[in-house]
Amino acid sequence: MTGPEWLERVRALVDAELDGRIPSAAAEPRPLYEALRYALLAPGKRFRPALVLAAARWLGRPEPDVLPAALALEFIHTYSLIHDDLPAMDDDDMRRGRPTLHRAMSEDLAILAGDALQPMAFGLLAECRAAPARVLEAIRLVAEAVGPQGLVGGQVRDLRPPTGGVRSGDDLLALHQDKTGALITAAAVLPAVLAGRDDAVAPLRRFGEAVGLAFQITDDILDVAGSQALMGKATGRDERQGKTTFVSVYGVAGAQARARDLLAAAQAEVQGASADALHALAAFVVERDH
Ligand code: FPP
Ligand code: MG
Repeated sequence: MTGPEWLERVRALVDAELDGRIPSAAAEPRPLYEALRYALLAPGKRFRPALVLAAARWLGRPEPDVLPAALALEFIHTYSLIHDDLPAMDDDDMRRGRPTLHRAMSEDLAILAGDALQPMAFGLLAECRAAPARVLEAIRLVAEAVGPQGLVGGQVRDLRPPTGGVRSGDDLLALHQDKTGALITAAAVLPAVLAGRDDAVAPLRRFGEAVGLAFQITDDILDVAGSQALMGKATGRDERQGKTTFVSVYGVAGAQARARDLLAAAQAEVQGASADALHALAAFVVERDH
């Protein structure tokens, strides 16, 4: 199976599993389940769950052992997108090619659906098939990645530009390592933690860090050079808001060169035939058009 074929299969698997995990819109409280299904089943790339499954493949671990962890990270990612789009944060109208949840339904439901996705994610992590000590370690790892020293901390820094508005390249790097990189790194490392493969944690961490950064750099490039229709959300916002981005610091060509360097560095971390999916995912990050 080629890399793109593997990715397509895994995306279909994750979509089906997500569908099965959220009770139908007839469940009570009905508006909440409708909101959860609207946000989670929208056409996302499923990059973070795919990364969990690709790392498990590299380690020779069965997919069912890590599938709950893969879904958990998509739950957390989806909550972060719902909340990021709220009027109090980015105030966006479109996400994944559809009106954002607060526009399609209401702001209170968007807040509460995001709130619900977080405990649901930790419940999923607790379902992973592994020794209890390993599962606890996985829960701790994700808690750290999405808390004040990770996703939430990065978001706060993004929303509070330094006085004068201009960020240094180093500050930008640190911000995105937390906001975008921490969850992606957790996705890469989780299968090694669950399998007790301590030897694989460091290379997967370095792989995740490089890919996470490349992901954000490509996001910044697509905001200036990408198609709004393909992206499924507004583009050109960074420039309109005067945000410091990898493009404003390095230019499009410079940012592209950095993303390519990170791709090569990531791929060098994981070798062997079973690293094919990890290599394909890393390449997708840099080559994607949405
Ligand atoms: C696009 O993901 C999203 C990012 C590049 C990360 C953005 C980070 C935030 C919005 C953090 C928000 C945090 C809080 C606490 C509110 P993607 O291209 O994989 O999107 P997709 O799943 O729709 O394909
Ligand atoms: Mg946003």
